[in-house]
Amino acid sequence: MAVTQVVLLDPKRSYAQLAPELEAAALRVLQSGRYIMGPEVEAFEQACARYLGCKHAIGVSSGTDALLVALMALGVGHGHEVVLPTYTFFATAGAVARLGATPVFVDSCPRCFNLDPGAVAKKVTRKTKAIIPVHLFGQAAELAPLLALGKDKGIPVIEDACQAIGAEYAGKRVGSITEVGCFSFFPSKNLGAFGDAGLVTTSDDRFAATVRALRSHGEVTRYDHQLVGGNFRIDALQCALLNVKLAHLDEYTKRRQAHAALYTRLFTEAGVGALVGQGAGCGAGCAKAGAGAKSAPVGLPAAAQSRHVFNQYVIRVPGKRDSLKDWLKQKGVDTAVYYPAPLHLQKAMASMGHRAGDFPVAEACAADSLALPIWAELTSEEVTYVAERVIEHMKA
Ligand SMILES: Cc1ncc(COP(=O)(O)O)c(C=O)c1O
Repeated sequence: MAVTQVVLLDPKRSYAQLAPELEAAALRVLQSGRYIMGPEVEAFEQACARYLGCKHAIGVSSGTDALLVALMALGVGHGHEVVLPTYTFFATAGAVARLGATPVFVDSCPRCFNLDPGAVAKKVTRKTKAIIPVHLFGQAAELAPLLALGKDKGIPVIEDACQAIGAEYAGKRVGSITEVGCFSFFPSKNLGAFGDAGLVTTSDDRFAATVRALRSHGEVTRYDHQLVGGNFRIDALQCALLNVKLAHLDEYTKRRQAHAALYTRLFTEAGVGALVGQGAGCGAGCAKAGAGAKSAPVGLPAAAQSRHVFNQYVIRVPGKRDSLKDWLKQKGVDTAVYYPAPLHLQKAMASMGHRAGDFPVAEACAADSLALPIWAELTSEEVTYVAERVIEHMKA
């Protein structure tokens, strides 16, 4: 059947492909009567630790709570600062602000959308308690300079890997490279739950014990509350379902990468697109790799040297983003803008005193970026349909 419509995400298609396995897992939990913690949670945590290559994986209620609990475990609070990109989802900064600490923003790399590591060092002060690189859209941020800076200054680096499960940097899975990793299993993520869920990863035994206590009201043993935590637990039901999907994650990733490669090939062949983000990350490597890139109306995301898992396929369309979005809508294609405003321009962050122009790269990305459908179960006919509609508009 000819394609006439492509949605941004259809979780029902993913469910349908694994329905018997998922239903058996759900039924097992329902019949077990163990809905909070227990063997399903432990099994999922162990499978995640193995997959990610770290010692501890601790299931929590969401990616937001993963960030919150990780910051709490590091003792972040009033009077502290945490350096992070302004071009990210709100939760990265929201978790910092909720603890009374100050998010200190940095600009991004125009080629790969990730934070500019060169800008981070300039923002570190004696109040800095953590640095949070975000592996945006499924591509690892450039971590080496941040690891060196963190080591030099004694500042932990928290990877916000919410969008990037399975992505790699220098041969290691993200979330296992720095002191702490945070993941989201929101349904649109590469490993999507059937509701909210998240994960904190670490290889530090003491830190892991603190996170485990904090996720259950600071309890160390039953009714022995040694810290003030909260209810940040992951559901046993989500763990059983996620464990089924985790076994298929690499296959999902391959499909996403194939869709990305197809988009990139079709745009390049049609002469409307050129890579803007080639390279392992930003900083010197990214700038060098992108230096020879030809200009074209559509800026294509990097086919990075590190393993990009394409949670999103985000193109840059200066001057034509909104008209392209409207055109695609008319043609039955859903797209999204991640994110229409960087965090320093959000009302909730007004107390930081920023204004337009403070972070020009992030502001330009917010103005001209567009995410095309890239979910694993899309067919190549659907991807081709989207690409052809983009090409039509860009050539018009
Ligand atoms: C970069 C980033 N950080 C944090 C989060 C928060 O995750 P959750 O929605 O599971 O709370 C998200 C989710 O969209 C995200 O993309």
